[in-house]
Amino acid sequence: MKKILKIAAVAAMVLGCSACSQTQEEEISWQDQLIEENTLIVGISPDYPPYESLENGEMVGFDVDMMAELEKYLGVNVEFEQMTFSTIVDAVNLGQVDVGVSGFTYDPERQVLFSDPYLESAQVILTKKDSGIESAADLSGKVVGAQLGTTGADAAAEIEGASVELNQDANILVEALKAGQMDAVVVDLLVAQNYEESDSSLVVLDEPLVDEENGIICSTSNELLMDALNDAIAQFKESDAYEELKTKWGM
Ligand code: ARG
Repeated sequence: MKKILKIAAVAAMVLGCSACSQTQEEEISWQDQLIEENTLIVGISPDYPPYESLENGEMVGFDVDMMAELEKYLGVNVEFEQMTFSTIVDAVNLGQVDVGVSGFTYDPERQVLFSDPYLESAQVILTKKDSGIESAADLSGKVVGAQLGTTGADAAAEIEGASVELNQDANILVEALKAGQMDAVVVDLLVAQNYEESDSSLVVLDEPLVDEENGIICSTSNELLMDALNDAIAQFKESDAYEELKTKWGM
């Protein structure tokens, strides 16, 4: 009789436990929101040094190095998928990539979740030193380039009297500026400064068109994933790697 009671007690314990692990299994985690198990698929447009660019076919930049750091905190493999900048928001929303990392700046018109900021930015005017252009007001009647689908394109559209030319590729805009096909381009501050440093014929105008901050984006349905990303970003920003990478990329 005692033995039977014991067996019953053990059985109850086993049943009880399996019931509790079942409810735990039903609770969804941020990892469950990933498209592929143990992998964070990152949509990226490598035409924006020093955030991301291609060097001999290899992707380099602050964003690339930052993702290697976040990979450690998240404990999943980061996989990059190169795409045109203007398609990343849709790719995120269609579930083709988990996140977008591409020097994104917060823009309420983008129907996505934005992470906490990881860098300060601004939209600024990059022009030729000898252009005689000293402020946005001097751009009336001039051709201003901007990248399709960017906040820079929105800022350029606000410049009075300027005719805006859009391109899918930020590199091509700067080439067109150098070749005299455009009078100025609007890009993120750190990108403009990077071009100014590498080409003595270029200058960044002091007055920013709009102040911004850079963040990572994901779909509005992946709040748990965004919470995990924010935790990882907070750890990254407190680590030595953050300052090291800013110095490495001149940011
Ligand atoms: N910060 C701007 C935006 O969010 C431009 C980003 C462009 N990034 C790039 N990799 N081309 O719209």
